[in-house]
Amino acid sequence: MPIITYLLADGTKMNIEAEAGANVMRTAIDADVPGILAECGGAAMCATCHVYVEEEKASIFSEISDVEEEMLECVTEERKPESRLSCQLTIPVGVDQVTVQLPVPQD
Ligand code: FES
Repeated sequence: MPIITYLLADGTKMNIEAEAGANVMRTAIDADVPGILAECGGAAMCATCHVYVEEEKASIFSEISDVEEEMLECVTEERKPESRLSCQLTIPVGVDQVTVQLPVPQD
């Protein structure tokens, strides 16, 4: 079972055991990870599931679609090269551990 580590904006770390092939946003919602709101339910239409992925693990995920890219341009937090919508991230079978950083909310 893969472990998804969520590094929260306040520095807290949450390690959540996920199902094989799990979705990063869905796993966070099911585990009440604070900071991932997922207002659109995973339709890539709200950007409230924004996370930063580890640079060295970025290639395990599917490429950013045009729709995701458009939404990432709308994030209210800092946009970085490693920015992704966590609803678009599925943990590939065979991957044991993934860490995502939640962005610091902007005022
Ligand atoms: S849940 Fe809305 S964009 Fe990911």
